[in-house]
Amino acid sequence: MKFMCRRSRTYAKERYGKSSIFRAFLFGHEFVVIGSVHLAKKILSQDDFEWDLPVDTIMQIFGNGIEGSKQPYHPVFRKSMGSALNPVNLKLSLPAVQAIFEKHLSHWLEVGVMAIDQPIRAMVVEVALSVVANLNVHDSIMQRLCSLALSVQKGLVSVPLNIPGTTWYNALKLRKSYIALLKSVIGMELEMRKEMNIELESITKVTSPSCPLDTTKAILEEYAEMKRDWTNLDAIAERVLTNVVGASETTGSALFALLVAISSVPGIMEKLREEQEHVLSTYGAELSYEVLNQHMPFLDSTIREGSRVLPSTQGIFRKAGKDVVVDGIPLTKGTKLLISFNLLHALDDNFEWDPCMTVPTHVDIKDLASSFKPERWLDDSATKAPSLFSFGYGPHSCLGMRFAILEMKMALCILLRKGTWDLIRHGQGAPEFVLLPNIHLASGPAVIRIHRSPLVKKESIAL
Ligand code: HEM
Repeated sequence: MKFMCRRSRTYAKERYGKSSIFRAFLFGHEFVVIGSVHLAKKILSQDDFEWDLPVDTIMQIFGNGIEGSKQPYHPVFRKSMGSALNPVNLKLSLPAVQAIFEKHLSHWLEVGVMAIDQPIRAMVVEVALSVVANLNVHDSIMQRLCSLALSVQKGLVSVPLNIPGTTWYNALKLRKSYIALLKSVIGMELEMRKEMNIELESITKVTSPSCPLDTTKAILEEYAEMKRDWTNLDAIAERVLTNVVGASETTGSALFALLVAISSVPGIMEKLREEQEHVLSTYGAELSYEVLNQHMPFLDSTIREGSRVLPSTQGIFRKAGKDVVVDGIPLTKGTKLLISFNLLHALDDNFEWDPCMTVPTHVDIKDLASSFKPERWLDDSATKAPSLFSFGYGPHSCLGMRFAILEMKMALCILLRKGTWDLIRHGQGAPEFVLLPNIHLASGPAVIRIHRSPLVKKESIAL
């Protein structure tokens, strides 16, 4: 069986008989691609398959920070990270998230017409650094951290040309400055906590007063529990960098896709604004944890549908830790697997594929207007909805899912209450998305025009 890479975004693949397993060549490696919900769940819950991230450029940006997902650190990493991201902490962190979003989105409104690709990332990177990582610093330092993070994260998806002037060169060069600044900020934070605490050993137990959602503390706790040197600022800074990337790249892509889909699929914006009008009239203007979580079913469904049709990561990787048989197919130890969200999220798994396909093509996305249907997630039609894997499954599943959903809801509510927006497009037809290396539009930057039309509280509106 021969495999070839036609274009950087195209991979040749071949189905194993009638199975929903394929062989494919991608990112310079041969993969076994899993396209069945049943097999994906089995693989993602088994210890026979190890966590893996076989994309060299991404690994060079992540650096050593990725170790938390690997043995022997993973169980302790999950415990401390899970405790930092618990619902009580999420609730307490919401005002800080809202303040950051209000600041950015008010600026969007002032500008009126803008390309949103980078501004979305800037917004979620600031949330990741100041709320998720809880780096409590002066505005000017936060701005510098955000700008470094954005340039470094561009490296995740750039061509690895290490020549001055290229995105990759810039990312690697600035990564050093970013780590140095993170180290000094974390060092100052530790000093501050030391002053608050008499016993040095309990520094890792003290949450900074500014925000309880403290994943930096979670890293320190993990280091202390694993009897590692938690004063090793290089190592801690690497871990913070990885957390910031994990929390912002994903949320930024998901939000980008939602903003474009909401403005492109007829009827969605109107329904979302009607829902916001109802929420405003019934519960008032406060975007509280309860209101965001419990009273916006159509927004919930829109976010779910976004993550089905346009997932921010196209799949997750695993490696066979020993010789195994999957669906009757023997896989040798070391075989790389791609659990493909695009396949798993398809409504009809009897699709016939070309032997060569372009990775970004979601089986349902050829016509966004007819495939993007938030209604499918509402009560009685829920049975027709497929399983969602966008936040993973099993022992590595996303610990930040609830936070990410709250973030997306918060940003969309703020915007929907202030006005409407449309995508400025040349020519006719639905916008074409490209899903790799991260979600963007095939035609270039996504430029939106915002129309101010604030929603006001009305006496009583029945939905
Ligand atoms: C739309 C936004 C997000 C998406 C689509 C997403 C997706 C994922 C996926 C697919 C995984 C599983 C990886 C694997 O099994 O290999 C994962 C794991 C994880 N995510 Fe997220 N994520 C999002 C936002 C966040 C945020 C905001 C945070 C932190 C606040 C976060 C923290 C984590 C953590 C800690 C893990 C666990 C890694 C492990 O146990 O190895 N994620 N995420």
